[in-house]
Amino acid sequence: MRDVAIIGVGLTEFGELWDKSFRKLTAEAGSKAIIDSGVDGKDIDAMYVGSMSSGRFVGQEHIGALVADASGFSHLHIPSTRVEGACASGGIAIRQGYLSIASGMNDVVVVGGVEKMNDVGGSSATETLATAADQEWEAFFGATFPGLYAMIARRHMYEYGTTKEQLAQVAVKNHANGAKNPHAQYRSEITVEKALHASPVAEPLGLLDCSPVSDGAAAVVLCAAEKAHEFTDKPLVKIIGSGQASDSLALHARKSITTLDATVHAAHMTYEQSGKHPSDIQFAEVHDCFTIAEICAIEDLGFVEKGKGGYAVENHITTLDGSRPVNTSGGLKSKGHPVGATGVAQIVEVTQQLRGEAGQRQLSDVTVGLTHNVGGSGATCVVHIMEVN
Ligand code: COA
Repeated sequence: MRDVAIIGVGLTEFGELWDKSFRKLTAEAGSKAIIDSGVDGKDIDAMYVGSMSSGRFVGQEHIGALVADASGFSHLHIPSTRVEGACASGGIAIRQGYLSIASGMNDVVVVGGVEKMNDVGGSSATETLATAADQEWEAFFGATFPGLYAMIARRHMYEYGTTKEQLAQVAVKNHANGAKNPHAQYRSEITVEKALHASPVAEPLGLLDCSPVSDGAAAVVLCAAEKAHEFTDKPLVKIIGSGQASDSLALHARKSITTLDATVHAAHMTYEQSGKHPSDIQFAEVHDCFTIAEICAIEDLGFVEKGKGGYAVENHITTLDGSRPVNTSGGLKSKGHPVGATGVAQIVEVTQQLRGEAGQRQLSDVTVGLTHNVGGSGATCVVHIMEVN
């Protein structure tokens, strides 16, 4: 396996982007990443694009080729492939790009992620998202993702004593980080009080426990590490571990709903490959589609003991100045969650932190970071570990 480096990153603003088409979003993120990397169109061997449901959200399928075309590369006939794994589509696209370079097949690959969710109304967006739940056993009976994560939250509270205040503290932290991120959908700070009194969505989750419905795109340029110096002299961020795992779509089929086994398995694979342990991870971008999801993630990734996630947040371990910052970008909660873009945007944040380019939210002296991207309520999980040298 060859070493793979991230040599370019690009992100659009996330939010309700009425003036930007799906095509324009992909082109904007892609061109930013390509300019950042120093590569030329003719250097690109392949493209991978993560998108969960472009057909339902904007009526456009066949987006592998569309993204290559929108980026101005149709004359180069670059093989461009769309991948789908619900909200983990972006993370899977990164892994496919990574594998194609590590195997020796390609040298330079552009990976994008995109979703434009606001063109349909709120209830239609909720229905489209629910297609990633088990249709026969969950969605048919009216379950939506806020409802499914609310069940996880209730059970976590019952088993471990996690409180609504601890859930609210996840949102408060992520909004504080998002306020420092110029690309974030919500750049306002909130308080625990405000989160606790927000409109109920699915008890015990309120409006401020939920990630929003978002438009946005992200892109990265991956390159065989041995060739990276041909294009860039920026600090070399390498992907040193890549793991992916799956589980049952339906919550009821799992032995526990407070542990996402797909996270545990994907993380194990990634730690083994990289030679790193949970204690080596200095910061992470994790999949906080709902506040409870961040608490489960930091437990399942091995950052804290099972059941202690809420207490870790309460004790400020995961804040920007804590011992293990989590979701420095603002996370899905505040930065936004254009589902297909999220896994790629997480890689953008970790790369920027490792290169020292994260502006007001820059961490000091970080060399190792992790991303964790989940599809649905945990049927797919992708984990990556990056190191700079
Ligand atoms: N966080 C903070 N503020 C939010 C928000 C969120 N998640 N969602 C909406 N808002 C704000 C809006 O900006 C708006 O503010 P304004 O009145 O000042 O303009 C207000 O709340 C109402 O917005 P609206 O779009 O009408 O909210 P909604 O009730 O239709 O949708 C949710 C709110 C939480 C139901 C929706 O964001 C949602 O479904 N989120 C989950 C998405 C999801 O499931 N993703 C996949 C995860 S697996």
